[in-house]
Amino acid sequence: MSERARPTHHCAELRRAHAGERVVLTGWVDRVRDLGGLLFLDLGDYRGTTQVVVRPGTDAARVAKRVGAWWVLAIEGQVLAREPETVNPAVETGEIELEAEVVRVLSEARTPPFPPTATADVAEELRLRYRYLELRNPRLQRNLRIRGRLASEIRAHLDGHGFLEVETPFLTRSTPEGARDYLVPSRVHRGRFYALPQSPQLFKQLLMIGGVDRYYQIARCFRDEDLRADRQPEFTQVDIEMSFADPELVIEITEGLFRRALGAVGIEVRPPFPRFTHAEAMDRYGVDRPDLRYGAAITDLTELARNSGHRILDSILDGGGALRGIAAPGCAGFSRKRLDELQKVAVAAGAGGLFRAAFRDGAVRSPLARMLGPDRLFRLLEAAGGASGDLLLLVAGEPRTASVALGALRRRLATSEGWIGKDDFRMAWVTDFPLFDWSETESRLTSVHHPFTSPHPEDLHLLEDEPLRARSLAYDVIANGYEMGGGSIRIHDRRTQQRIFDALRVPPEEARERFGFFLEALEYGTPPHGGIALGFDRIAMLAAGARSLREVIAFPKTTSATDLMTGSPGSVRTSQLDEVGVALAGRRRRASGAD
Ligand code: AMO
Repeated sequence: MSERARPTHHCAELRRAHAGERVVLTGWVDRVRDLGGLLFLDLGDYRGTTQVVVRPGTDAARVAKRVGAWWVLAIEGQVLAREPETVNPAVETGEIELEAEVVRVLSEARTPPFPPTATADVAEELRLRYRYLELRNPRLQRNLRIRGRLASEIRAHLDGHGFLEVETPFLTRSTPEGARDYLVPSRVHRGRFYALPQSPQLFKQLLMIGGVDRYYQIARCFRDEDLRADRQPEFTQVDIEMSFADPELVIEITEGLFRRALGAVGIEVRPPFPRFTHAEAMDRYGVDRPDLRYGAAITDLTELARNSGHRILDSILDGGGALRGIAAPGCAGFSRKRLDELQKVAVAAGAGGLFRAAFRDGAVRSPLARMLGPDRLFRLLEAAGGASGDLLLLVAGEPRTASVALGALRRRLATSEGWIGKDDFRMAWVTDFPLFDWSETESRLTSVHHPFTSPHPEDLHLLEDEPLRARSLAYDVIANGYEMGGGSIRIHDRRTQQRIFDALRVPPEEARERFGFFLEALEYGTPPHGGIALGFDRIAMLAAGARSLREVIAFPKTTSATDLMTGSPGSVRTSQLDEVGVALAGRRRRASGAD
């Protein structure tokens, strides 16, 4: 056998047709069985295993006797076809076995803290601490391979449409995406800091000004924000920008990207994806990222419910409020307890209360029945798209609040009632986001996306006097209720950019200090441009059918932003802090005896 122990085949490759061939396999020992002299061991990797048989008294047997689980071996020998009664149909290589002639130990192994191939009951902390062992698990191997395949398909799609992959800096200035920055102190310029990019936003716009008219990057982004299952402190975007683009072009390129990349991993999505304006999404689903895998959309029933004689309802509707509802299919038989739970969900989401009506066998049961009468309730049910057997859930109040509460009920029921099929995958666009939000804490407008987002051309006149009514040319792409990406057409002239900064009350000195280089660049002939950034980890998560980004990131962080394997963030030596001119506030206080 050659010293490099290069395999001739992989561990899931050999079939009956290989019988009689001399081969070399390399892999981990999965299992050793000693059948009274005859030794069987399974040699494998993420692809599968091959059974190796070692005959007693041979050189191979002398080595094989010592080996244990997870040792790394190279085995040379001959492929034998198994007798029909020993064929194992459960294993791809079950028709053959390898008769070992030479067994070489490439690496011995300590007993791992948990069996890498059976991690279901192992605490996540332990798995993350020994992530390299968990990576041997077929589940994670599959997820990483899905992720890799998605990346190469995405690159192929964008390359094919004339996009150029360009890398942008990590050591840079703050980009305003709304999270906190990760800061890196400069040694050479004491007291100064780089910020790790929250996204390549400004650089991609500068690339448009620089004449790269179609850019992409599978870009790492860094955001110091509260983490959840679908948020990591460092994550990856498929970042895209194009000159002379309108929303239609960005949407078309993006839909093609999803169709190709997801198609390659067995998920079919068919463009064009349905589109909702932000206002429609909020009205119909109570959320700006509607999950279209199930129905029970929200219907406005205000006109049908007017002058009902129900004191509370009439007063809400007369006061400009709305009555909105969803028909929950097959839920007419809900118990009192379940109805109370739903009421709690609605109230927690902002509703004043929850009305309900259960329709069964041609009759309706509802606390509203006495005042509204069955006929009117049946009309409400019909308008909401419901049928016999359904439970009509109704919220009266400020229209948006009513929708948000019903949206929460809709999502809760989808989970508890199993409305979502295992393989359902539904994408959508949400367009025409508002340009600004009102921040109660800061008492000022903030950008819904970022301050470089173009206002909707029809709403330019609103910027100064009614800014909260102004729409933007921003769009999000949604899959299964997750925000998969967001982008916009950008402002490409300095004057409009200034109007936005004014509306945001960004003082001119601050704008100059933070983005002066960019504002200046806008003055040198900026092509109109726009783009989008897709959350690559989220795409991989949904494509893999996983529930957490940690399942599709090789070395993820915990929800408290730590890496349990490397132990980061870690402390550093005082001398390193001195070098970059940084002193820890707590330490200084202690040194001076202040605490
Ligand atoms: P945005 O901030 O919407 O837009 O980010 C784009 C997409 O990135 C994903 N994402 C995340 N994924 C994992 N962990 C996180 N912490 C995280 N934060 C965001 C989401 C999101 O839709 N520069 C703009 C894009 C543009 O305008 O072109 C931007 O970054 O899927």
